[in-house]
Amino acid sequence: MNILVIGSGGREHALVWKIRQSPLVKKLYCAPGNGGIEEMAECVDIASDDIAGLLKFAKTKKIGLTVVGPEAALVAGIVDAFEKEKLMIFGPSKRAARLEGSKVFAKEAMREFHVPTAAFQSFDNYETAKSFLEKAQYPIVVKADGLAGGKGVMLCDNLLKAQEAVDQIMKQKIFKEAGAKIVVEECLKGEEVSILAISDGNNFVILDGAQDHKRIFDDDIGPNTGGMGAYSPTPFVDEEMLKTIETRIIDPVIRGMRREGIPFKGVLYAGIMITEEGPKVLEFNVRFGDPETQVLLPRLKNDLVEMMAASCEGRLEDMHLAWDKRRCVCVVMSSGGYPGKYEAGFEIKGLTAVQKDLETIVFHSGTKKEDGNVVTAGGRVLGVTALGDTIEEAINHVYASVEKISFTRCFFRRDIGAKAFAHPRKRSKAITRNL
Ligand code: AMP
Ligand code: GLY
Repeated sequence: MNILVIGSGGREHALVWKIRQSPLVKKLYCAPGNGGIEEMAECVDIASDDIAGLLKFAKTKKIGLTVVGPEAALVAGIVDAFEKEKLMIFGPSKRAARLEGSKVFAKEAMREFHVPTAAFQSFDNYETAKSFLEKAQYPIVVKADGLAGGKGVMLCDNLLKAQEAVDQIMKQKIFKEAGAKIVVEECLKGEEVSILAISDGNNFVILDGAQDHKRIFDDDIGPNTGGMGAYSPTPFVDEEMLKTIETRIIDPVIRGMRREGIPFKGVLYAGIMITEEGPKVLEFNVRFGDPETQVLLPRLKNDLVEMMAASCEGRLEDMHLAWDKRRCVCVVMSSGGYPGKYEAGFEIKGLTAVQKDLETIVFHSGTKKEDGNVVTAGGRVLGVTALGDTIEEAINHVYASVEKISFTRCFFRRDIGAKAFAHPRKRSKAITRNL
């Protein structure tokens, strides 16, 4: 069949790379794609949130399966629009996508389904929110209800900071209508992991654990980013923990949504804090994670197209996932200045040297082709990804490849994956220094 992948990041490059391996694929398109994706799929210049344009393209090109990368189109109802036209599309309906699109909806759903999460209160009134803060315990977390490009969560150490956060969201409206409501919740402590499940609305399969590295600098210091690297599997999610997450979190959500008449199809991504009291949900996403996808798909042995088609058609019941036992690490190479201001348009050197290396794949995020050269075109530029028999080996492979790539003002973290081999005690400073 013909397949269309929507999006332009490292996640979409990983999806295209994996989908291309399926014998079920006839022709593969990506909208809009990037400088790396265009080597593997035909890129078409349609924005990832242009639902009408994408629908028209899918009809014209007889697309048999559409795969949506980013959340915005899902929350805006792309699945409903495609299904109305009898087009197969992988992802949740607009109503189900509220698990990511509205934090108030997600928290209320969790309360209803008895899913462990931080204690919370939601507010749609500025004055009530402000007076609540005076009696609250600190630190506390203030979240805008709607999509805010990953910037809508504010960790506040004291009353003053929390008041500022509420002012910015509800009064100055820095996130516009996404901040019409807020969630104020308990601050959780522990190790953060990402657990993804693929559901057909009824049944689901759960993927191996992965760990993202959200902060810009080593040792989790500095501002949050879209993700500076990831690895899989993670020792923080052993078989027993995965089972606990499945029975206490994923299963109740899939069953609960079904019971409410909002069956959840597609990827349910749970951002989880492993606390002393067990796993608790920080947030839900309704799509593949970035950069988690870059470390999960190279380890997944199943045909992803078959899995996604089974999700769309309600056939996941007898499906089982098979994993490559090797470890996988992805290091994001970013433009200096990111997540703040940065320059783009710099030539990326060394890509061909790396691509010959065994067990390394270079997924592109913010790149484009210009006069035959690949140049930087975003904050996160590349997701250099490598496999290894042990996490140490995968780390050595990935950093050996990273060293071969260069572009002006390139920045990357040097400690991706290091948490894994020092678990459960302090990580080895000696080894991280040598990376
Ligand atoms: P989100 O934008 O919802 O992914 O949240 C961004 C980040 O904020 C998460 O990855 C966590 O690191 C952090 N976070 C969100 N909620 C909490 C919480 N209740 N306690 C501690 N950290 C949190
Ligand atoms: N890795 C974080 C996200 O995909 O939202």
